[in-house]
Amino acid sequence: MKLSVFGCGYLGAVHAAAMASLGHEVVGIDPDATKIAKLSAGQTPFFEPGLPEILASSLGSGRLTFTTDPAAAAGADVHFIGVGTPQRRDGAGADMTYVNQAVADLLPHLRPGALVVGKSTVPVGTAARLAATVAPTGARLAWNPEFLREGFAIKDTIEPDRLVYGVAPDTKDEDTAILDAVYAAAIGAGTPRIVTDYATAELVKVAANSFLATKISFINAMAEIAEVTGADVTQLADAIGHDARIGRRFLNAGVGFGGGCLPKDIRAFTARAEELGRGESVAFLKQVDEINLRRRQHVVDLVVSSFGGQVFGHRVAVLGLAFKPDSDDIRDSPALDVAVRLKGLGAEVISHDPEAMDNARRMHPQLAYADTVDAALDGAEAVVVVTEWKQYRQLDPRETAAKVARPVIFDGRNVLDPAAWRAEGWTYTGMGR
Ligand code: UGA
Repeated sequence: MKLSVFGCGYLGAVHAAAMASLGHEVVGIDPDATKIAKLSAGQTPFFEPGLPEILASSLGSGRLTFTTDPAAAAGADVHFIGVGTPQRRDGAGADMTYVNQAVADLLPHLRPGALVVGKSTVPVGTAARLAATVAPTGARLAWNPEFLREGFAIKDTIEPDRLVYGVAPDTKDEDTAILDAVYAAAIGAGTPRIVTDYATAELVKVAANSFLATKISFINAMAEIAEVTGADVTQLADAIGHDARIGRRFLNAGVGFGGGCLPKDIRAFTARAEELGRGESVAFLKQVDEINLRRRQHVVDLVVSSFGGQVFGHRVAVLGLAFKPDSDDIRDSPALDVAVRLKGLGAEVISHDPEAMDNARRMHPQLAYADTVDAALDGAEAVVVVTEWKQYRQLDPRETAAKVARPVIFDGRNVLDPAAWRAEGWTYTGMGR
């Protein structure tokens, strides 16, 4: 099929490359000329394992092109909207500028029978509004939320764990058939598919992210209780996680969730529910947010108290800046936040991250960035692990002790073995354990 993808960020670029790798003819469209030039040359504008390979093969096959010109969408049967919906600058709601702009750019190039497919995470009600905008062209609209995780984006796109189609009731069969043709490989592999209305499809996405955020804040709330009782939240998570109704995944306590999705999605959902007069239904998401943000300050407080209440002038190695491993994404990153807060208190912060340092440096030039983990550790009076990259999880306590000035470590992701570190003379502090 001939597809266009509006937006070439984390979502759109992956979707475009993955769809081309499945045999579709795809044009990726984005107004950012620098991004388009990079992608056209086979360079990924962000770190995503597997994306360079799939990009190279799809570009090489001739089935994938990138352009800044929305007119290139004219020949496509299906037009995906995969632009960002960040948090508004002036409030908690979603900024719809990019979605609205993408649809406006696409509108003159739509032909009767074409299908516009929204993938962006949007406030419920958006699809119905955009369907009305698109209708005069004779094209139709569907909402098909995306559930990909950064770091696993290619696999999640090609082998999703479910497909959700929000379609207009009177064209349900035609629109479902078009989307089934796009996702023929996943459908053929037996992927569960839910065909529903616009509102349900939009809500599925925010409900899923709200549930995940709540699960993380739940275990972090338990960590807070563990911290005043001497209990171990990691063992608690293992124990409750054996209950299949609860499950162990997303029960890792630590510095909390960040990234371009969970934090802004729970805030946008809260704002939308308030607009709908149902603010009380999701009022708990404000607490989910508050618990989450408290975790960042908690780590900072622990570091400060290890210096007797004054971190000014002390050298602190912060390991990790990305919001999670296998990503260079620093949007709403707890790790970066911890580094910035410590720096704000006058600490001499030396940061390291295998992939996110360029992004962090652009946003926070006041931090010092070490080229290697060893350089970050050199002379450190405290070490703070805030993103669980493999190379930090594998640090050897004895070798690490030889590099630092003071063997004090804070395990912000509970990924180190406390006994092994303590046995080498370290003062180890985990999160709620
Ligand atoms: C999230 C969802 O998991 C995806 O399903 C969704 O498609 C995506 O948002 C989106 O809306 O686009 P992502 O932001 O890539 O994906 O990251 P997650 O893997 O969900 O992790 C989010 C944050 O939670 C990270 O900061 C991670 O460190 C933290 N986390 C995760 C915990 O603190 N504890 C856990 O147990 C799990």
